[in-house]
Amino acid sequence: MSARDANPVLPPATVGIVGGGQLGWLMAGAAGRLGYDTVVLDPDPGCTATRTATAHIVADFRDPDALADLASRCDLLLLDNEHIPGGPLAEIAAHTPVYPAPAALLRIQDRLEQRRMLSELDVPQSPYHAVGDDDELAAAMRADLFPGVLKSRRGGYDGRGQVRVAAAGDLPEAWAALDRRPAVLERWIDFEREISLILVRGHDGEVVFFPPLWNRHRDGVLARTEVPAPIADEVTAAGRELVRTMAAALDYVGVFTVEFFLRPDGELLVNEIAPRVHNSGHVTLDACATSQFEQQVRAACGLPLGSCELRHDAVMYNLLGDLWEAGEPDFTPLLAIPDTRLYLYRKSPRPGRKMGHVVTRLAHDERLARALDDLRPPPARAAGGCA
Ligand SMILES: Nc1ncnc2c1ncn2[C@@H]1O[C@H](COP(=O)(O)OP(=O)(O)OP(=O)(O)O)[C@@H](O)[C@H]1O
Ligand SMILES: [Mg+2]
Repeated sequence: MSARDANPVLPPATVGIVGGGQLGWLMAGAAGRLGYDTVVLDPDPGCTATRTATAHIVADFRDPDALADLASRCDLLLLDNEHIPGGPLAEIAAHTPVYPAPAALLRIQDRLEQRRMLSELDVPQSPYHAVGDDDELAAAMRADLFPGVLKSRRGGYDGRGQVRVAAAGDLPEAWAALDRRPAVLERWIDFEREISLILVRGHDGEVVFFPPLWNRHRDGVLARTEVPAPIADEVTAAGRELVRTMAAALDYVGVFTVEFFLRPDGELLVNEIAPRVHNSGHVTLDACATSQFEQQVRAACGLPLGSCELRHDAVMYNLLGDLWEAGEPDFTPLLAIPDTRLYLYRKSPRPGRKMGHVVTRLAHDERLARALDDLRPPPARAAGGCA
């Protein structure tokens, strides 16, 4: 289905999902409730999405034959993450629609290309310099970008593939730590808050926005999201205008997320774009009339977009592998808090790995935060709070 094609893909059609992580799991759940069958492609036979998908192809999503097999069984494809190689997907998209479209994906999955696009669109962003060879390294060392952070152009998530750089003299070592992979150096931004804005865009260009989300990270990993973000309406409006411009420039269909730094003077700078449902948007499962996962299915299939209306103020905490240090945690105290929902991904625990999340009404935030703190091993408990 092209961006202008109005023919919807109606249930009982089959939606394919490339990648079977928690985003795939929740998208497959939303698609299933709407009456679609789902097929997930993931190399792990026990991946999270198998628990909601109708069928599973156990193969690497970088394998062109496996992708072709998936496409042959599906009416359209969704992506679980933005690191799926855009080239093979472009070939698939010639006969089976892929959301996000590979052309948009190719620009966004490369941090430098993404930033060039933002420059072309005059969208404010943190200052940066490419680091891809020795000449660029020398030029970046002369730039006014310190203290900064060096980020790999491709493949990073949850702060992986990033090295903090205090001063110009530390840059060569930081680049060596990234195995001299193509990278982007950014200035470290002094921000008041981090927010994300999630847009949904239909085939006809119709756009709806979720309420703004306030995100707090710890060690580069999202720890807590609160909705609505406590920011001025004018800031939200200005940010939405930027997001709308970016999505329109890409002729984007589906859920599109932009992470921003809000500076103390009210200026918004783009941190990065995620061409997909977003971790901060997990809170929409409970807080909004339609979740971001259902919106992704609706937009891609050409169904009417749902309402993003906020039903109640809410907060979401990620559950990281550290909580599993002494075995499976006992979540009973969390479950005793009214209006609290627990989502467990059933992945094998590793420190820092996202293992689940929990959402509650903002009114129960303190109680939930205390219950979570009680689950942490004692030394981590002393470190407490969010960055
Ligand atoms: N230039 C910067 N200035 C200040 N803080 C930063 C900067 N870059 C990153 N951070 C902090 O680190 C977090 C993770 O960075 P970023 O969003 O680039 O990582 P990522 O690995 O792409 O993460 P994900 O895809 O999981 O959002 C940011 O949300 C922010 O808290
Ligand atoms: Mg990020």
